[in-house]
Amino acid sequence: NVKPEVKWLGTPISELKRMPTCGRELPPLKDIPGRHTVMIRTDLLQDGRVPVPFPAKFMDTWDDVHVKMPCSSSNLFPIVDEVIVHISIDSIKVLKHGNNAILKYNASHAKKWDFTALNLYCTKVLKPDDAEHLFDSLLPDMVQLALRAYELCTKPIPLLKAGTNQSITMSQEQVACLLANAFFCTFPRRNSRKTEYCNYPDINFFRLFEGSSSKKIEKLKTLMCYFKSVTEEKPTGLVTFTRRSLDKPLTKLHITCEGTIEDDGCGMLQVDFANKFVGGGVTGTGLVQEEIRFLINPELIVSRLFTEVLGHNECLIITGTQQYSKYTGYAQTYKWAGSHQDTTPRDDWQRKCTEIVAIDALQFRNFLEQFQPEKINRELNKAYCGFARPEEQSQNLAAVATGNWGCGVFGGDARLKALLQMLAAAEAGRDVAYFTFGDSQLMTDVHNMHAFLTQRKISVGKVYDLLRQYYNSVCKSCLSRRPDVSLYSFIYQQVGSSLAPNDSDSDSARH
Ligand code: AR6
Repeated sequence: NVKPEVKWLGTPISELKRMPTCGRELPPLKDIPGRHTVMIRTDLLQDGRVPVPFPAKFMDTWDDVHVKMPCSSSNLFPIVDEVIVHISIDSIKVLKHGNNAILKYNASHAKKWDFTALNLYCTKVLKPDDAEHLFDSLLPDMVQLALRAYELCTKPIPLLKAGTNQSITMSQEQVACLLANAFFCTFPRRNSRKTEYCNYPDINFFRLFEGSSSKKIEKLKTLMCYFKSVTEEKPTGLVTFTRRSLDKPLTKLHITCEGTIEDDGCGMLQVDFANKFVGGGVTGTGLVQEEIRFLINPELIVSRLFTEVLGHNECLIITGTQQYSKYTGYAQTYKWAGSHQDTTPRDDWQRKCTEIVAIDALQFRNFLEQFQPEKINRELNKAYCGFARPEEQSQNLAAVATGNWGCGVFGGDARLKALLQMLAAAEAGRDVAYFTFGDSQLMTDVHNMHAFLTQRKISVGKVYDLLRQYYNSVCKSCLSRRPDVSLYSFIYQQVGSSLAPNDSDSDSARH
C-alpha cells in the first residue's frame, strides 16, 4: 500500500557506494598471457591520447582459440576494398559502381540477405542531405576504419571460451574498427550459426538490415550515431571484457607427507583447524593443531576476548601474529622446544606476513553423515569463506597451506575433506599446499585424484555433481557404518576411464 508520492524506499541512494570514489587504486595495466590480453602499448597510455596498438605488426592467426580476422591471409573471402565505399543497397540510386559491396564480399549469402531496413533508412528516413553525407562521408570513413583492422587490431583476440576466466583490454578505437567490420559483415565464418561459431552470438550485422520494422530503423539511427561519432573524432579510452566463470578448473596442488602448515606454509594462507569457539581448548585441555598454533603464536589467543562463536558461513582471519616458541611432538607428546626467532617480513601495515584463517569443520560421529549434501555444502561454504578474497585478483593470492582439516578430533574423512578444500580453493582462485602430517598413502591418493581430475579438465561443478551421485548411489542406501565403495573409487569408475591411475585408495573405505 505504497502512497503514490512515495518514490523510493530503503536505504537512500546517496548512501550506496559508487565508482570511482569507492574503488581502490588499480594495479598497473599488464598483459598476462592466458589471463589478460592487452591489445595496446601500456607504456604509452596517456589521458586524452589515442592508444597505440600492440604489437606494431599484424599477427596473422587462424585457429580455434582466436577470433578469425577479416584481414587474415587465411580468409578466403575477397578482401574488403574501396568498392565498399559505394556500399549500397540494390535499389539505391547512389550506387555508383553498380555493386553491392556487402553482397559482393559475402557472395554466397547474396540471395538470402535482405536490406529492406537499411534501404528504408537511407531512402525514407534520412533527409536527402543526410543521405548524401552518409554515402559521401560516413560510410567511406567506416570502410576506412574497417580496413584499418590490419594496423589497429594487430594482436590476436582470444575467444573467451566457456568455462574460462580471462580478460581482453582494447582501445575504443580498436572496438570501433571491429564494429565497422561487423557492420560490413566481414568477419569470416560468422554468417551462419551452423558452423564452428554455433556457440557464439551473431557479430556480423546482416540481421540489422533486414525487415521493415520501425525498431530496426531506430536501431540503425542509434548505431549510425555511434559510427558518426567515432569516425569524426577518435575515442581515446580503453575497454576491458572479462569472462568470469564460477565453474572453475582445479588449481595447482602441492602435497607432501613431510612438514607442517606453520613451518612450510610461510607467506601462504595458513589454515587453523578451528573450533567454532576460536582457540578451542587452548586454555583448557586441548592440545592438537589449533591449540598448538595458539600456543606458539600466542597473539592468536586474544581473538578469544572478542570473537563470538563462528556461524556456519563465517571464519576469522588473523594477520600479523608472530611465532614465539618452537615445539616437538603432538597432543600427548607435545613439548615446548625453546624460543623461536620469527624472521617473517612485515607488510606495509607493519604486520608479520602471516595470515591464519580459523575455519571450524563439522564434527562427525557417524562416517556416512559427512557425505550428505547439506553437510558437504556446509563444509564447502566454510572453506570457501576462509579462502576467498573477492576483492583481490587471483594472481595476487597466496596459496592455501592446509591439511587434514576436520579429520583428527572431528572425525572427518581426509580424502573427502582434501577434495572439498581443493574445490573451495579452486573457486577462490588459490593453489593448495597440503600437508598430510606423515601419511604417505594419503599423499599418493590425493595427488592421483587431483592429477586425474585436472588431466580430464573436470571442473569444480562436475566434481560437486560426482559427490552428489556418490551420496545418492552409495551412501544413501548403505546399511553398514562405512560405504562399500570408497569415494575415490567411485569417482574413477564414474568418470569412466581405462586410464584411471592405480587406485591405492580402493580399500580405504574398509579401514
Ligand atoms: N600441520 C599440518 N597438519 C597438522 C598439523 C600441522 N601443524 N597438526 C595436525 N595436523 P585436529 P580437527 C593434522 O584434530 O579434526 C581442536 O581442539 C593431523 O593429521 O587438530 O579439525 C580444535 O579447537 C591431525 O590429525 O583438527 C577443534 O575443537 C589433523 O591435522 C578440534 O580440535 C587434524 O587436526 C578440531 O579438530
